[in-house]
Amino acid sequence: MMVRVSATVENVSVIGTGYLGATHAACMAELGFNVVGVDIDPEKITSLSAGDLPFHEPGLPELIRKHVTGGKLRFTTNLDEVGAWADVHFIAVGTPQVRGGTGADMTYVDTATTDLARAITKDALIVGKSTVPVGTAARLADLIAETKHPEVNLSLAWNPEFLREGFAVEDTLTPDRLVIGTTNTHDEDTLRSVYAEALDRDTPWISTDYQTAELVKVAANAFLATKISFINAFAEVTETVGGDITTLADAIGHDTRIGRKFLNAGVGFGGGCLPKDIRALQTRVAELGLDHSMRFLDEVDQINLRRRKKTVALAFDTLDQDVIGKKIAVLGITFKPLSDDVRDSPGLDVAARLFNAGADVAIYDPQGNHNAAKRYPRITYNDTLNEAVTGAELVILTTEWDEFKTLTPEDLNHKVTTRRIIDARNVLNPHHWENAGWTFTQLGRQSPHD
Ligand code: UGA
Repeated sequence: MMVRVSATVENVSVIGTGYLGATHAACMAELGFNVVGVDIDPEKITSLSAGDLPFHEPGLPELIRKHVTGGKLRFTTNLDEVGAWADVHFIAVGTPQVRGGTGADMTYVDTATTDLARAITKDALIVGKSTVPVGTAARLADLIAETKHPEVNLSLAWNPEFLREGFAVEDTLTPDRLVIGTTNTHDEDTLRSVYAEALDRDTPWISTDYQTAELVKVAANAFLATKISFINAFAEVTETVGGDITTLADAIGHDTRIGRKFLNAGVGFGGGCLPKDIRALQTRVAELGLDHSMRFLDEVDQINLRRRKKTVALAFDTLDQDVIGKKIAVLGITFKPLSDDVRDSPGLDVAARLFNAGADVAIYDPQGNHNAAKRYPRITYNDTLNEAVTGAELVILTTEWDEFKTLTPEDLNHKVTTRRIIDARNVLNPHHWENAGWTFTQLGRQSPHD
């Protein structure tokens, strides 16, 4: 990778070293900047400095170790130190769903921004990357102006992040677009120099105002969520009238205006972003008196949550409505493969519902067991697929890890007690399983084809 640092920007800080921040910090170091990641949690700083991450993200620990060892990247709890040093400060703290509500919890962003503004003693640009309700950047710009040292020139830009878990490094180093909300050309030029390498590759550069930049982020996630729920709503129809949702998705996906991506029907979407973002967006527009505009997102949410209930109902149907004491192997409880994230995970929700109904649930996930066990300590977690499926009366595939996608009936035939499987991600070949004597069920596929 070509290393290129502008004459003006050399030192970069990243406030918040969670998923977004740790990735951004490592990638900025990879681009050649001197980077300091800041977090309030000293334990996190110690483990990050050793390249130990509290989450699973392919390629990221290696990148962190490379730049910590090479001296380009370090971590600290000391905001004053970076305030006197960095040219650009990225804010990458979380905006989780507020406890007991649907809006975004802005405590971390607000605190990080004001603490940072207070600590900055050198002219700099603050760049917000967190996913926020529209109107936040303008509000923060006022807060910064009130809080900063009078002699320091400090301004704010908004630069949303579109990285996917599991592809975080790739998405950060080679983004498909860069969106920059600024109030002046000087700040835009600063960010052009930060992202010079991506611009050299002709990465689309969208320069806009704060509001548009904030909205682009939530609009993208709302669109993706809607696309998934759209196909899942049709799955509800094919489940009733007959038909094959996968063939339907393939057929409409050939229309390039529609596209095949994010049309995989199944147990639906989860994770730390899509569910909370569509809820926060509805809450925000309602505050603005526009609740009707995003009302459809409530339906998107409901369709999505119904898929989990449907999967549980299929388990009951498959077991003749009697799940008590029956061993059910649940394969995959992260919200998607290549992640250990179980936040709002459809698979974990299905497992917990069956467990609460009295089933003997045995979970196996290649990465997610430890996080799930923190939430549901009483469920059984197995270290191997083999242990989970041995003696099972039903197997449910809830996350499409490669290890599960490539499963064949021969792998399981002599381990399970009864040959029943629900493929809640529609990734297995129905004929192979039916031909091997399995009761095989998918979501939205009544007359499956190869
Ligand atoms: C999502 C967006 O894709 C990123 O662009 C965005 O930056 C990120 O949120 C964020 O806001 O930080 P991510 O949460 O990592 O990324 O996950 P996705 O790959 O979008 O998958 C979300 C969920 O949708 C998963 O549970 C997945 O299983 C499900 N999904 C995806 C389907 O059910 N069907 C599909 O066809 C595709």
